[in-house]
Amino acid sequence: MCSIIGYSGNEDAAPIIVKGLKRMEYRGYDSVGVATESNSQIELKKGVGKVEDVNSKVQLDILPGKIGIGHTRWATHGKVTDANAHPHSSNSGQIAIVHNGIIENFDKLKDDLKSEGYKFLSETDSEVIANLLQKNYAISKNVKDTMIKTVSELKGHFSFIAMFDNGQLAAARFHEPLIIGVGEKNYFLSSDVLGFIEQTDEAIYIDNGNFILIDQEKMQILDFDGNEVKPVITKVSKEFADVYKGDYAHFTLKEISEQSETIFKAGESTKEAIKETSDYLKHAKNIYLTGSGTSYNASLVGKHLLSKYAKIKTESIISSELPFSPDIIEPNSILIALSQSGESADVLEAVSIAKKADCKIISIINSLTSTLARESDIVIGMNCGPEIGVAATKSFTSQLIILYKIIQELSNEKIEINFPEISGAISKILQEHNNIKKIANVIKDISDIYVLGRGIHYPIAIESALKIKELTYIHAEGIAGGELKHGPLALMDSNVFVIIINPGDSTYQDTLTSAREIKARGAKIIGISDSNSDAYDYWIKLPKTDELTFPISETIPIQLLSYYAALEKDTDPDYPRNLAKSVTVK
Ligand code: F6R
Repeated sequence: MCSIIGYSGNEDAAPIIVKGLKRMEYRGYDSVGVATESNSQIELKKGVGKVEDVNSKVQLDILPGKIGIGHTRWATHGKVTDANAHPHSSNSGQIAIVHNGIIENFDKLKDDLKSEGYKFLSETDSEVIANLLQKNYAISKNVKDTMIKTVSELKGHFSFIAMFDNGQLAAARFHEPLIIGVGEKNYFLSSDVLGFIEQTDEAIYIDNGNFILIDQEKMQILDFDGNEVKPVITKVSKEFADVYKGDYAHFTLKEISEQSETIFKAGESTKEAIKETSDYLKHAKNIYLTGSGTSYNASLVGKHLLSKYAKIKTESIISSELPFSPDIIEPNSILIALSQSGESADVLEAVSIAKKADCKIISIINSLTSTLARESDIVIGMNCGPEIGVAATKSFTSQLIILYKIIQELSNEKIEINFPEISGAISKILQEHNNIKKIANVIKDISDIYVLGRGIHYPIAIESALKIKELTYIHAEGIAGGELKHGPLALMDSNVFVIIINPGDSTYQDTLTSAREIKARGAKIIGISDSNSDAYDYWIKLPKTDELTFPISETIPIQLLSYYAALEKDTDPDYPRNLAKSVTVK
């Protein structure tokens, strides 16, 4: 998703902005740009590509001045072109803006501005903000009133930063993240603390419907009506600064490898919240789980766990589907929202629908300073450290561990979770990477992969297919074992690979039968199991663990397989094409 950044202080702005943009690269983007102000002149450079490449082409980081703004764009309105990259300048060149979000009424605003003689150079919705600001500034002649008027005219979701040629910065937040970093003699504005964490660990999380004015060393926060808001400074965990790959070739591999440790940490810092959650679940009439992508897949595992081990019935809802059937939510229920970032727009919308029905919101989140955390009644932290690779890996297993801890709490500790055993199993799988690498080489040119699992392994099959798609761009699909004969069997031939998730539990025999049926149609079988079988063409050995925790260990080989296949295909596993880490638009 787009990242915005701003700087005002006593150092050269451009190098700081470029560095901040690099740290936020993980959010996903296709183009980049920076603008600075010096001697009442705004200078602007931008282009399509990675920060590093555009910088070496046009030298973003030598723009002059101590005030500046920067942006990485993830295209929504208009193609990936230099002209559509941000910042966008107003027609007079007096104001430049960077924007994250979607201006829903941009067509109407653009037509109105055009009829008044304004010209537009891009296809973006964002450019209207620059010219609307110019129009309103010409009337009010002061930045505060200009902002009040402008935000009242914008519809949609936005956070934007505007730089005026008098050296003032202004920024507004409406349903998109915006954070101020407070330095000794400088201010930072950013969509993510990573934008400024190297410079300061003091942050102010801006509330929805507020805007900021920064004039040299003076900073003010106001609501959209212009009333002053008292800033609340939060100390951000220094852990966020720990976002280097170390000896690993990619963040994705680092994060996959960390799982033998992160499973111990999941929920550790919020044990009380797990206890409180289980108390609520015991007495709740209706419980819903929601999330997007990988987090939704984790919710499906949660549904199985709660029903099998705690006899609690729940419903898993894809967050983006809830607006189309909000009546599913019974009033006064519990909604458990799962989200690594806590900023997914779809999840936040699902939460707002549930809140309207007076539901209690319990969230399982990695980023404890996120919007979702602030919208929740109870927050359970995943505690797995920053996840930079766009494809979710360690956050998924941390979510599962928290769900395990909830059922353990519900059982009054009768359910045992053998953490050293799970951790040992993950380490063993990681050590077997050579076998997985060989299989990755075999599947790299395949066009279709299916992943089959039954019962609690079906959500893992869906999650595995998602990982394969994201990292390798190979078409992949999760199949519930019993559904094979109801359609997918028609697709099985010698061009197809099928990964069979088949640990030794009650699903084993039926799943082995499915493997044989598929093999009989000529498809190649990769078995993930604690025991080998002649049904498998390739076998990835699962260490023997307690059956309860198979879903965790069986996830790891497919994460690794997807990672190594991405390398074989020469795609970037950390930043898959077209994807963003934190999907803050609907
Ligand atoms: C998959 C992936 C996405 C996210 C989804 C939700 O690897 O990364 O599908 O899981 O966008 O993100 P969060 O969990 O941040 O709400």
